[in-house]
Amino acid sequence: MTDLASQIIPLCNSAELAEGGRAVPFDVVFAGQTCRAFAIRFEGQPHAYLNRCTHVAMEMDFQPDQFFDASGRWLLCATHGAEYAPDTGECAGGPCRGGLVKIDLSENDGVVHWHTAYNLKPFEFLD
Ligand code: FES
Repeated sequence: MTDLASQIIPLCNSAELAEGGRAVPFDVVFAGQTCRAFAIRFEGQPHAYLNRCTHVAMEMDFQPDQFFDASGRWLLCATHGAEYAPDTGECAGGPCRGGLVKIDLSENDGVVHWHTAYNLKPFEFLD
């Protein structure tokens, strides 16, 4: 039963997530597979997603930890130009097929944490 409880895991300091800036990458185990994930800040709020495009299951950043397009309005997949809304992960244009997998975050006392879910586990607890 403890497997069903959500864990809250420190991810980074709040100051590391600049508005519209570089992402903070982290690793998760999603549905049994190790995946890259990333956190960004948009309109003041931190958000995190699996780094996996819904067009082809590829990582999206064209330079390490760079996801925002030039306008700072969309998260961009470098491969074929799919665009996602930074606050929801929903497809906003291009060839994406649905939205990004969102990871719950919380922010308290200058620290951002991510929350596990039934299909989303911390990488280091695999054995
Ligand atoms: S793999 Fe992301 S747009 Fe094609």
